[in-house]
Amino acid sequence: MPTKSPNRAAGGAEAPSEPPEEPKPEIALEDLPGVGQTTADKLREAGYTDLMELAVASPGDVAEAAEIGTASAQKIIGEARRRADVGQFESGTVLLARRKKLGRITTNAKALDELLGGGVETQAITEFSGEFGSGKTQLAHQMAVDVQLPVDQGGLLGEAVYIDTEGTFRPERVVDMAKGVGLDPETTLARIHVARAYNSNHQMLLVQKAQELAREHPIRLLAVDSLTAHFRAEYLGRGELAPRQQLLNKHLHELSRFGDAYNAAVVVTNQVSARPDILFGDPTRPIGGNIVAHAATYRVYLRKSKPPRRIARLIDSPNLPEGEAVVSLTSEGIRD
Ligand code: GTP
Ligand code: MG
Repeated sequence: MPTKSPNRAAGGAEAPSEPPEEPKPEIALEDLPGVGQTTADKLREAGYTDLMELAVASPGDVAEAAEIGTASAQKIIGEARRRADVGQFESGTVLLARRKKLGRITTNAKALDELLGGGVETQAITEFSGEFGSGKTQLAHQMAVDVQLPVDQGGLLGEAVYIDTEGTFRPERVVDMAKGVGLDPETTLARIHVARAYNSNHQMLLVQKAQELAREHPIRLLAVDSLTAHFRAEYLGRGELAPRQQLLNKHLHELSRFGDAYNAAVVVTNQVSARPDILFGDPTRPIGGNIVAHAATYRVYLRKSKPPRRIARLIDSPNLPEGEAVVSLTSEGIRD
């Protein structure tokens, strides 16, 4: 869905007589009844930049974004649906076609790729959880590099967006990892779009910014390291659990929408918290509870083993057998 007319770049030499069969005139938000300039601007600011995004939005979200009543929001969404020509139902054929476009990105470790059914999948959220130093950030870096590989080498010839919430993105690691897979370090760095998120709100806003970026760059990986740290730090009390989970849910929805819209892989990292109720087995579990459990298609739990090894375990996957893979964290990146 191009937002800018490709003709505009033509240098202005051509007479603006007849554009060679534009597929569909772009309908501006302002063309919707009940949407004035101010409302349109507010909507765009909140990330609703085209009709499709409005059409699939919830009235509550739109009302909040545009500072209008829910009833007006409902009307605007209804109109956007009519004009955006959203099929309410997709045939199995269409769904299958979309599934066929699924891409996979290698983790650079064969055993872990196999555990994931062939690598990290696009149109899905993959969670890497584990305690400090378990390798979550290393994996996020590795994916941002590997997505750039040619398809026959396990990549998608794509670029990456990296949302760094803890200030642990290290370009030096990217350089090492790029060399490790035979990519040019400079080019590799240039194709990773990094943004530091300073709080949970900012983190959510950056997903919208990522959408803008994805319209101009072939973004095939969106990494969020860490998904939950800000949320956990900001919503501390018992009474704040519900609002925290609600926001986290919204965030995950937006991430998932990004993955679907751009056929991109979404990789999130997650810390673990102690479970005082567990006497036997692993006394930790990923933060975010059911919300993350539902939103993430693949959940990989990392635990430390004899250095530099880590054991990756696939937890509650709907379509893959549970299992474990041993990986090593080397100076060149993740390896078997
Ligand atoms: P937290 O963010 O603290 O929760 O941990 P994390 O799971 O993100 O850990 P991270 O991915 O940062 O893993 C850190 C580990 O990666 C270190 O303990 C090292 O074992 C390994 N590592 C990081 N950088 C290098 C490096 O340059 N060379 C080598 N050989 N290993 C590295
Ligand atoms: Mg980390």
